[in-house]
Amino acid sequence: MILCRTIPELKAAVSKFKRELTEGETIGFVPTMGYLHEGHASLLRRSTKENRFTVLSIFVNPMQFGPNEDLDKYPRNEERDLALAEASGVHAVFLPSVEEMYPNRPLTKVTVSQVTERLCGASRPGHFDGVGLVVGKLFHLVQPDRSYFGMKDAQQVAVVQQMVDDLNFPVEIVPCPIVREPDGLALSSRNVYLSAEQRQQAVVLSQSLELAKKWLDEGKLTPNELLQRVQNHITSVPQAEIDYVELLTYPRLEQVPANDPISGSSPLILALAVKFGTTRLIDNTLLTFG
Ligand code: PAJ
Repeated sequence: MILCRTIPELKAAVSKFKRELTEGETIGFVPTMGYLHEGHASLLRRSTKENRFTVLSIFVNPMQFGPNEDLDKYPRNEERDLALAEASGVHAVFLPSVEEMYPNRPLTKVTVSQVTERLCGASRPGHFDGVGLVVGKLFHLVQPDRSYFGMKDAQQVAVVQQMVDDLNFPVEIVPCPIVREPDGLALSSRNVYLSAEQRQQAVVLSQSLELAKKWLDEGKLTPNELLQRVQNHITSVPQAEIDYVELLTYPRLEQVPANDPISGSSPLILALAVKFGTTRLIDNTLLTFG
């Protein structure tokens, strides 16, 4: 496994891989912010299975954090990350410093409109501009054929896919399923912030998504009725504070009529963001109708 801390080192590794590719072989890429867990590992394994070479990036991107967010305390563990990368069959890891990625303050903005208006785009102003900027830079540097993203961040998948379509990046975006703890909590680098009590209560996120599916199977509901039930379930635990609970079309992320019975005309996403103390957790499920 090649370790690259600078852009020239990464470019050399990518050139070497490209020289070694034979007809039909591809390069896969998994961008992350590190503190890797089984969710990240699932993307890495999928990439190593589907491509001749896999590049992993680990970079806590300051451009996608708001001024009052957790940039400084974002968890890091380089040694453990490298061991997991190696075990997942990764061929090169790009671990740049902030100065390497942003030697000067970037003056170019990557703004994807519409799909960033709601959910995390509304709660975290500027967040997706930062994601678009860093993912665009990384795609140019790594030049992957495929790039793997988790549906844990379903809005991020929609934003990146839109950017790739609009700007003709020659990369295929591969959405991957959410990996969960045995009790249903979606794996997240931020779960380490939770106290034991908060960790127990955090199970209401995935529970409420499962309940929502059951309620919809049992009979017709309007978005308002469904969202009210989901909110009630989440706030049944004392420490949960709802940031948003929304039902939108996916991947366009447009609103659906609040008081018409939910129908299967287009795929919908039920998306949640809930704070436990200062820790903000997100989860979602896609609702498809038979
Ligand atoms: P990060 O939060 O480290 O996540 C990296 C990738 O892992 C994302 O595609 C994310 O959706 C996926 N992932 C995280 N938890 C997952 C889970 N439980 N199951 C499946 N996939 C999961 O997302 C980012 O970093 C950044 O915004 C980034 C794209 C790297 C740009 O900075």
